[in-house]
Amino acid sequence: MKLKPVKGMQDILPAEASRWQALEQRFRRTVELYGFQEVRTPLLEATALFQHSTGETTEVVEKQMFTLLRDDESLSLRPEGTPSCARAYLNETVYARQPVTRWYYLGPMFRAERPQRGRQRQFHQAGCEIYGDPGPACDAEIIDMLYEFLTALGIEGLTISVNSLGSRETRARYRQELLAYLKPLAGSLSQHARERFEQNPLRVLDSKDERDREIAAGAPSILEVLSDDDRAHWQGLRACLDALGTPYSVDPRLVRGLDYYTRTTFEISANSGQLGSQNALLGGGRYDEMIAGLGGPDTPAIGFAIGLERILLAVGEQTHARPAWVAVAPLGARALEQALKLAKPLRNAGFVTEVDGRGTSLKSMLRRANAGSARFCVLLGDAELDRGVVQVKDLLRHDQQEVAPSQLVEALQAMLARADTGQESEDHA
Ligand code: HAM
Repeated sequence: MKLKPVKGMQDILPAEASRWQALEQRFRRTVELYGFQEVRTPLLEATALFQHSTGETTEVVEKQMFTLLRDDESLSLRPEGTPSCARAYLNETVYARQPVTRWYYLGPMFRAERPQRGRQRQFHQAGCEIYGDPGPACDAEIIDMLYEFLTALGIEGLTISVNSLGSRETRARYRQELLAYLKPLAGSLSQHARERFEQNPLRVLDSKDERDREIAAGAPSILEVLSDDDRAHWQGLRACLDALGTPYSVDPRLVRGLDYYTRTTFEISANSGQLGSQNALLGGGRYDEMIAGLGGPDTPAIGFAIGLERILLAVGEQTHARPAWVAVAPLGARALEQALKLAKPLRNAGFVTEVDGRGTSLKSMLRRANAGSARFCVLLGDAELDRGVVQVKDLLRHDQQEVAPSQLVEALQAMLARADTGQESEDHA
């Protein structure tokens, strides 16, 4: 039996998990201030859901889903969160109770892509979806929120690209124009684009292949064929972004890889060294037709998803001050009982506390405390018990104090608050 994880999937061990927790917490805090509430949906859905929403001609559905058969039903691990949220929104008839709904989610997604730096088969997204708000102000507000979020994380070299794909009718019109432009040039397209451009010509616009890019550069712009309503929405978006002072650039070739987008699309990328070629940190846009397409009422919608692995790559190594923890080292059976009791008030006071119950020597207990980067070691043996004291070793400052067990919390807090300790005392507030 091999013990490696499945290709393109990774374990996240505790040292790394603390970076994840910090990022997730910041995401939650940010989006909750904008009124988003968390939704949790299953990882497995009927394959048909993704075919009907993500779209059968997207690469994700065509060839990247992890699909299994169970009791004759085809199920797939979710490749993205948007379809599951839409299904839950419809299934629970949320629209009947709330004119506008703001949801967020965090969790793993699955796409059988070729793994490389910043691209995995199990990856994690943090995303938001808004249902019931057609206006461009919320589009602008979430783009601005994301810009602020990434900037506050210290990510440099951000580029915000925005575009409008118009409504379904606009896109149908544009599709014809684009086809007319591409057909005479088909022989010069990459093989991949040539095979599919008749079915989905918009995808040629964001092909990574150099030959396709050259051809895409000369293609007519979708912004030129927007209907009056689409244009008003697009101009509204730009006016709101300008009012917020959000820096952005217009990219008429930003069609995004998923079929469901209408009007606003956006992506934010960073040119941070660690990211390599997979530099899109997040993407999103409007999908005003999906809810009706799944059998629900006409409901405008917009959302985005952030790739959390890519954010962590862009942020780079940042050490997070771990809560200074206390190792309690009892020598002997009597001391162990006392140690178990002592540990409780320490934890109640916010000190991460581990009792060493292995019954080993003082030396090996100190070795464990140091290996776990404990800040303090509380030592007690028969001699201490007889005198009603414990010894507190400060492993950072290399000094020691004798204190009464009832004074232990106060003593640790005072030792932590001493100047030049190099530790964050607020961890224990
Ligand atoms: P997406 O552009 O497919 O959009 O994915 C969003 C982000 O997820 C990407 O920008 C990237 O950071 C990350 N990502 C995608 N695939 C991988 C992968 N294989 N490995 C690592 N990271 C990856 C969506 O998923 C839409 N559901 C966004 C949305 C929400 N649109 C409307 N609402």
